[in-house]
Amino acid sequence: MNVDDFLEELEGVIGSQYVLRDAKDTAPYLTDWRGIYQGVAIAVVLPKHTAQVASIVQICRKYKIAIIPQGGNTSLTGSATPETTGAQIVLSLKRMNAIRNIDLQNQTMTLEAGCILQVAQEEASKHQVFFPLSLAAQGSCTIGGNLATNAGGTNVLRFGNARDLCLGLEVVTPQGEILHGLRGLRKDNTGYDLRNLFIGSEGTLGIITAAVMKLFAAPTKKSSALVAVSDFSDMLRLLQFLQKRANAELTAFEMMTRESIELTLQHFPQFDIPLVHQASFTILIELFEYQEDSSETATSMLESLLEEAMQQELLEDAVIANSLAQVKDFWQIREHITLAQAKEPENLKFDISFALSKLERFMTETGQMLEDACPGIRIINFGHLGDGNLHYNLCAPKDASKGYIASQGERIQEIVYAQIDKYEGSISAEHGIGQLKREHLKAHRGDVAYEMMLAIKQALDPENLFNPNKVLIPKQL
Ligand code: FAD
Ligand code: MLT
Ligand code: ZN
Repeated sequence: MNVDDFLEELEGVIGSQYVLRDAKDTAPYLTDWRGIYQGVAIAVVLPKHTAQVASIVQICRKYKIAIIPQGGNTSLTGSATPETTGAQIVLSLKRMNAIRNIDLQNQTMTLEAGCILQVAQEEASKHQVFFPLSLAAQGSCTIGGNLATNAGGTNVLRFGNARDLCLGLEVVTPQGEILHGLRGLRKDNTGYDLRNLFIGSEGTLGIITAAVMKLFAAPTKKSSALVAVSDFSDMLRLLQFLQKRANAELTAFEMMTRESIELTLQHFPQFDIPLVHQASFTILIELFEYQEDSSETATSMLESLLEEAMQQELLEDAVIANSLAQVKDFWQIREHITLAQAKEPENLKFDISFALSKLERFMTETGQMLEDACPGIRIINFGHLGDGNLHYNLCAPKDASKGYIASQGERIQEIVYAQIDKYEGSISAEHGIGQLKREHLKAHRGDVAYEMMLAIKQALDPENLFNPNKVLIPKQL
């Protein structure tokens, strides 16, 4: 293969200024958000149109060059980072960021894959509608990346994850063809559901170039509270109580343990938890309100529900945000946990989920097993509790010497993964598999599911050109 010929053909399609080769230009695309994977690429290419993506794929097929699709590069599993072989290209969707259409009658929005999530949210609110996908990386992650990872976030409880919000995709296939699916239909039972095959496939089956996403009525007001709860089972009872009584208005039920809040305040002392009684668990609750002149506002509803919950001894303390600024402050604390943990030199992340009925037993038992195996290990546990999703992260003990996690990592993983199996959970609730968890996928999903996934990959991408070695282990292809 002649690299110069390959590059010349790429430049002919998108222009030389969009085929990045200089180390200083390519660097941000070659390492992951956490800085644990470092890749090498022949070039980083930045197409502007779907037809250009199709042409790039055709050129890559001709030269047998693998493609790593990339959006905002906020993956927490190394799924958007190329390998170290230097024989792949990164295809960044960044320049394909147009909002193609807002259809208010159909309550949909058609976005190009590189559209930043926050831009999509803001565009919806300009039209007095609401786009619910929401996560701490929303200022840089993209719709294409959100769909390729089936992102979750903080509003899943009420609105579902990226998959549930998508009505159609436009995809460039590994053959360099364009699959058109942007009709925005809510009902369409015409054969296999191809859209759902690409959602969550982490760029291994197709390059998403555009998507039709659902829009919703904009809430007239959001009401948030921080609630202190000392007992895990009370937390679940509180969730059930709110789900029953506040019904669909309950949009978020986010859990932060004492340790995760302490770590966040240690690294970001500008924040504060305005609760008088600090407890083992702090929950961030959010209700949406839809009526302009309702006699019972979301805030008064939340007030009376939390009062009643307190009488039932489900909680120790609660504070309801009294301004939009305070709502933002509450969310800042929750959203800074990941950043605080990233400041800790040594940590291991687990993004896991369970049936709600099994969560407590998992936590109690696993916590004890980890403490026995690694005395002093810090469990930074937080997450989307309403969805049964824990971000069960581990930091080295405070007095541990350098290299602690590297030396203990395998042992810790063995314990946690065995416990996930025991309690029939998932090893990746929302971040995907990428390169971080691919060794664990086969054992976790079982031979039948894994063989089906390999067969799908083989059928759609027989030359293994799209994000090879991510999700599935190549030697088994
Ligand atoms: P990238 O990181 O660029 O790519 C992710 C994967 O998608 C890769 O496999 C890549 O090849 C593929 N890909 C990207 N674009 C395309 C495309 N157009 N077509 C095909 N494949 C593509 N995730 C959650 O689910 N919930 C959270 O609450 C959450 N919070 C986060 C908070 C922080 C601070 C950070 C850093 C990350 C968080 N994440 C969360 C993880 C991450 O933000 C999401 O996975 C996000 O959806 C990735 O989007 P991206 O555009 O950055 O994708
Ligand atoms: C979150 O919910 O904040 C994210 O998924 C990020 C993380 O797990 O660190
Ligand atoms: Zn999360």
